[in-house]
Amino acid sequence: SGPLRTHAAGRGKFIGAALATGPLSNETSYRNLAATEFNQVTAENAMKWDATEPSQGQFNFSGADAIVNFATQNNQQVHGHTLVWHSQTPGWVQSLSATAMRTAMQNHISQVVGRYASNASVVSWDVANEVFDDNGNMRTSFWYNTLGQSYIADAFRAARAADPDARLCINDYNVEGINAKSTAMYNLVSSLRQQNVPVDCVGFQSHLAIQYGFPTDLQQNLQRFAALGVQVRITELDVRMQMPRDATKDATQATYYRNVVNACLAVTACAGVTIWGFTDKYSWVPDTFSGQGAALIYNESYQQKPSYTAVHDAL
Ligand code: XIL
Repeated sequence: SGPLRTHAAGRGKFIGAALATGPLSNETSYRNLAATEFNQVTAENAMKWDATEPSQGQFNFSGADAIVNFATQNNQQVHGHTLVWHSQTPGWVQSLSATAMRTAMQNHISQVVGRYASNASVVSWDVANEVFDDNGNMRTSFWYNTLGQSYIADAFRAARAADPDARLCINDYNVEGINAKSTAMYNLVSSLRQQNVPVDCVGFQSHLAIQYGFPTDLQQNLQRFAALGVQVRITELDVRMQMPRDATKDATQATYYRNVVNACLAVTACAGVTIWGFTDKYSWVPDTFSGQGAALIYNESYQQKPSYTAVHDAL
């Protein structure tokens, strides 16, 4: 018994959720669970570039502030997500020349990180998100195509300048197991740190699916990154299934949640686990992966699922 956050805190870890501003503003059950069960929050969309700087130099922090204020009221830490990404970034950024794009990136980071630099709730940022392809090559995004790989180091340096105390992360998906992509991430982080680029942390999104199997070398992979001297964290955990839900799939899903929490608990450098939402009522999965869903720890009616119990009992 007792909320997840109490147990996580007792283990020296955070348990987090991504929050959406809509239900946070108008749904009591959503607000109450978000407040009571979690001690860390991430904005699901409200801190992304399209939300915070939709046109050049015109900043809008209404959604971001709503998340941060909620977290402050509820004694939760905020993980800022995300500064430099190929997705959810306005067209005006994508069409800039190299010099103008680098300046716009540095200004965006300075304004967004700077706004919360003195806010005690906001403690970390995803500076660069999804820079790799699954084969381990750099993703040929507009960032890479216009600026080359140097945009990554420049982004971290700009974030450090804007908030010297924030923990700065690089974040990606399909890097949970040891594979070509996670090894490319490992090599990049190692190389950046050798060059004194301020990379403090690596985020493992962990968008898992029961039909693809569990990455059984997750703990070993977290440990090899920890050996580079970085903090590691699970940043966007969900475990989707082909719909419809049934008890067998729920049980498999619960073991995946338990295994992820246990891997983080077993690695001292793992700061915690953030789930990408908490209720199946609001999840990106059905919109993104056709025919799949039920990826979270509460159902659409805010009832706890076996996955909730698995996380609770692991903590
Ligand atoms: C997703 C959100 O959950 C959706 O609401 C939005 O429409 C698209 O982005 N990797 C990330 C997250 O880093 O920002 C993404 O979030 C999910 C994949």
